[in-house]
Parts: sequence; C-alpha cells; structure tokens
Amino acid sequence: MHQPVNIAITGAAGQIAYSLIFRIVSGELLGKEQPIHLRLLEIPAAQAALEGVVMELDDCAYPLLAQLYYGDDMRRAFDQVDYVFLIGATPRKAGMERSELLSINAQVFHSQGKILNQYAHPQAKIIVVGNPANTNAYITRRAAPDLPDSCFSSLMRLDHNRALSIIANKISSVQNKAKAECQTNQLKQMVVWGNHSSSQYADISYLTCKDIPIGASFDLDWLDQSFVPAVQQRGAQIIQQRGHSSAASAANAILSQMYDWKHGTKANDWVSMGVISDGSYDIEAGLFYSFPVTIEKGQYHIVPDLPLSTRSHNHMQASLRELQKERDAVLKLKWA
Ligand code: NAD
Ligand code: LMR
Repeated sequence: MHQPVNIAITGAAGQIAYSLIFRIVSGELLGKEQPIHLRLLEIPAAQAALEGVVMELDDCAYPLLAQLYYGDDMRRAFDQVDYVFLIGATPRKAGMERSELLSINAQVFHSQGKILNQYAHPQAKIIVVGNPANTNAYITRRAAPDLPDSCFSSLMRLDHNRALSIIANKISSVQNKAKAECQTNQLKQMVVWGNHSSSQYADISYLTCKDIPIGASFDLDWLDQSFVPAVQQRGAQIIQQRGHSSAASAANAILSQMYDWKHGTKANDWVSMGVISDGSYDIEAGLFYSFPVTIEKGQYHIVPDLPLSTRSHNHMQASLRELQKERDAVLKLKWA
C-alpha cells in the first residue's frame, strides 16, 4: 500500500459529485492500492444532503477510504490537498449561456483560489468544472499567485468526448458498418479549441482512425453545419431533455481528464484540456483556453506548431474574443 493522497471535491452533494465520488474512492482514478483521504466540501445549506452522501459512502465499505472530512471548512478541505475537483457552483438553466453564470459563481472561485494558495500542495492538480469553467479557472489561478500555472486546468474533456462520439457514429453510418469498425478509442488527435461555451471549435484536421489520417475525408458543409454546432450545443440540448445539466457524462470526463493528467496520454495521441495559454496559436497568454496537450510524468505540454487553416484560425479567434470579454468582466469586479 502507498502513502495516502488527499483529494478534495467541492459541490459534493450536487449531481456531478454524486456520479464522481464513488468512482474515485473505488480506485478508478489512482488504482486499487492507493488509500485516499477524502474531503467533501459543501455550503452550510447542503450539509444534510451531504450527510446522506456520506452515509452511502459508508455503506460501500470501500477499503481505500482511509480518512474522510466533510463539511463547509475550506481550510480543512484544501489542507495539503493533492487532487482538487472544483465542481461546486450554480448550473445554468434552459435558455441561458454559461457566461451568464459568471456573476453568480465568480466569487466562489475567488475565495477557493485564495485558500488553495495558502493550503494546497504546491504540485496539486486542480480541475475547475463549475461554469463558466475557463474563466472560473482564470479567477482561481489569479487568486492563488503562489501556486504554479501547471497546477490549474479547466474541464474541456466533455467536449472532446462528445466530438469523438459524434465522429465515430458518423463514420459508422457513412460506411454502413457495425460501430465496432471505428470505436472512439481508435480515433486519435481530436482537438476542441477554445472556451467551454457555444464558441468552442471542434477540429478534425489532424484526426486519425487506427493511426490513418481521416480528417480530409469529411465534407466541409457537414463539419460547419452539423458537427461543430452539435458539439457546441450538446450541453444545452441535454438541459432541454433532462431539465438538468449533464452529470454522469461530466463526471466521466472529469475522471478521464484527471486520470490522463496523472498517468499520461497515449502514444500518437493528445487530449483537449483547458490550460493557461503561453501565447501559442495567437491565443493571448494568461487566459484559460482549450488546447491539445500531451502529458508525461504528470506535466502537460501544449502540442506545438500544428498547421492551422484560415477557417480554424477564425473559429479559434472568435472563442478567444469571448474569453477576453469574460476576463474583462472579471477585472471589473471589485475584489478581483
Ligand atoms: P448541482 O447544483 O447539482 O450541484 C452543485 C453543488 O455545489 C450544490 O450542492 C451546491 O450546494 C454546491 N455549491 C455551491 N457553492 C458552493 C461552494 N461555494 N462551495 C462548495 N459547494 C458549493 O450542480 P452540478 O450539476 O453538480 O454542476 C456543478 C457545476 O458544474 C455547474 O456550474 C455546471 O454548470 C458545471 N458543469 C461544467 C461542465 C464542464 O464541462 N465544464 C459540465 C457539467 C457541469
Ligand atoms: C455541459 O456542457 O454539459 C455543461 O457545461 C453544462 C451546461 O451548462 O451545458
């Protein structure tokens, strides 16, 4: 058995956390030999619901759960924390854009960033999920100046997975073959660039299937009129159908993003992750933007020097402009 690691999950009584906590404590993230000190954070009004979640955790009798804190004390939740899932935030309702949540959720991430700055492990891996995720990551990072940039990411894996799934289905339908002919894990080098919003840009330019390039085989009209908008609007569509925003698929994406961040990306592949821009691809440095990244030994690297078409560049700049607007709104807030 290894030394225990500290894992914090905010919004722990919410719907995403309910799909995530049990998977993590069962060993899906760090393996069956890794004991966990789990910290579940919630606002005071949600403590009764959180106690219910904790009762269910007890009833699973997980051997890896070596220690549990639950409550509303950020200091206890974030003390020497190694893995942080910042989920706790208000979700949007039907008809809203995610950016409309900024004024509601911004303060949460500012406060949590300040406490993380003081208490988190200096190599903590922090995923910001609460929307608008990229700008909330920007706020969190800004409030935690003593932690390195490399500690922070925003969740973009859900968009990446959505794009993979749509393409796998499209190939199966066009080729009229069983889905097994092109499973999502045979597709590599998908990119979703930009903001986790309706300006994001799913890009198949570099896509391979079974390591053979296939990006050029897709019809441009289908890409522009069906594929890109379908990925952009998937979250809104789910809210329309369920009356609630995505939860199980979001938890699955969170787990995958943290898993790859810890264990590394596969050969000849990368993942889309919201990370702080270093100015690559004409994206303003300092903003959280989704790039293709490879990961090795727990460190991510933005994939350099991919050729960009004018169409791609235009899409990417549109998403950048939206992030700049969100950032400008943040900088007008008194506490930022
Ligand atoms: P939910 O309403 O079911 O749960 C959110 C929980 O957060 C609630 O229990 C609430 O009490 C708690 N909370 C609020 N403020 C908190 C704080 N300061 N500290 C700790 N807990 C706090 O919502 P959900 O469906 O779990 O979604 C959570 C967030 O994730 C939303 O903002 C949603 O839009 C976002 N989301 C992002 C993605 C993504 O891909 N980035 C995907 C899905 C959902
Ligand atoms: C999603 O993409 O499903 C989430 O960001 C929830 C939402 O508001 O769409």
